[in-house]
Amino acid sequence: MSARMLARVGAHSHIKGLGLDEKGRAKFIGDGLVGQIKAREAAGLVVKLIKEGKMAGRAVLLAGPPGTGKTAIAIGIARELGSDVPFVQLSGSEIYSAEVKKTEVLMRALRKAIGVRFREIRRVLEGEIVEFEPHFVPHPFNPYQRVVQKAKLTLRTKDERVTYTVGPDVAEEMISRGVQKGMVVMIDKETGRVSVLGISEDAAKELGYDIGRIPRVPVPSGPVEKDREFVWTTTLDELDELFHKRKSGGGIFSLLFGGGEERKEIDPETRAQVDEWVKEQVEAGKAEILPGVLFIDEIHMLDIEAFSFLNRALESELAPIVIMASNRGLTKIRGTDIVSPHGMPLDLLDRLLIIPTYPYTAEETREILKIRAREEGIELDDEAIELLVRYGTEISLRYAVQLMAPAAERAKINGRTKVTKEDIEAVRERFASVEESIQHLKEWEEKFLK
Ligand SMILES: Nc1ncnc2c1ncn2[C@@H]1O[C@H](COP(=O)(O)OP(=O)(O)O)[C@@H](O)[C@H]1O
Ligand SMILES: [Mg+2]
Repeated sequence: MSARMLARVGAHSHIKGLGLDEKGRAKFIGDGLVGQIKAREAAGLVVKLIKEGKMAGRAVLLAGPPGTGKTAIAIGIARELGSDVPFVQLSGSEIYSAEVKKTEVLMRALRKAIGVRFREIRRVLEGEIVEFEPHFVPHPFNPYQRVVQKAKLTLRTKDERVTYTVGPDVAEEMISRGVQKGMVVMIDKETGRVSVLGISEDAAKELGYDIGRIPRVPVPSGPVEKDREFVWTTTLDELDELFHKRKSGGGIFSLLFGGGEERKEIDPETRAQVDEWVKEQVEAGKAEILPGVLFIDEIHMLDIEAFSFLNRALESELAPIVIMASNRGLTKIRGTDIVSPHGMPLDLLDRLLIIPTYPYTAEETREILKIRAREEGIELDDEAIELLVRYGTEISLRYAVQLMAPAAERAKINGRTKVTKEDIEAVRERFASVEESIQHLKEWEEKFLK
């Protein structure tokens, strides 16, 4: 996840799900979400539809004024879908970049939102090293050097102990990884690849200290030789990049370190190849597709061209779930003179399930602010909370949430651990809400344009 993504999720880090019971009813407070009951229950039904594969070709629109939890609910949906289901956020205005075509930005976002999970079963040897004895012979051309020819390796689990003679490849890799008695290792039987899993708990106890950063792990149980399933998840976008780099001939080095030319656009043939390859993997039972969520905020910022691209994308076989958010009512579709609901073309509106969100009551605002304060480790006294509740309802919830951190900083400077009403008043005077800063700039523009 990029730094920017983290910062964005940061404001919503308290959200762990949709806070619904088994019947799909929203608790007043649940999973970090407060109130907005109907929208959360609607979102819960959307999660069910997604899980049952019944959302294909459809999309969701969260429609409501700023600060009513549209992004919060989209994140709640993502959390309910599970941790390795991709969730990608894009703001409508971000498609207008100087370097990349807007349809390419959208395409990338769509493909980032589709996960591919690979599974592979491999035969491995796994156990704690009881003995590792490399056998050296003189180098064939340089008698002053010695090379490893083979090694005797004894591995143990809780249930058995087996001795092997391993060839030079495995022996050399073991030596280069600095393996020693007491370490738990896993060796891929086919490739000979060695992975150090950690130091066994028994060995660490005997040593009386830990070895560097190597974690302590239990001695495995069962047989030494076994089948193990490996699972890893990637996205179509990552595969596009890999295929693209392989094609541009950078070799393994550029594959690993992303060297060489910065990719700007990926040609459609590469993407078609990736799709083809992924389908083969799925058919062979080696991979599974995980459609994730693409959340597009400020959807009215897309123009007619971007909308028709999106509309087509929703029809394709490999499409993620698209959740959009809008705080506009009737407005012009960008790039046209047509006025339409949420500034969206009708063919896209036809596909939508629309979830409205409403402004919060003082009680709901209070609970949300308390959850955020706890999340940020900020202590507020009662008067401070009440003042924030007022700003939250009168100005905006986001503004009230954002005042907390500077207020806490001011309290700290003044040697207090608890934020008081005074701190809140002080930061209220020093920071503007979005509405205020727009007003402020408008007044200046008027002065200059006279
Ligand atoms: N129902 C809610 N429960 C808990 N936190 C919420 C809720 N609604 C909004 N928030 C939090 O309030 C802030 C503003 O809400 P946000 O989701 O960004 O609103 P919107 O996207 O509608 O403008 C965010 O920090 C968000 O996580
Ligand atoms: Mg938002």
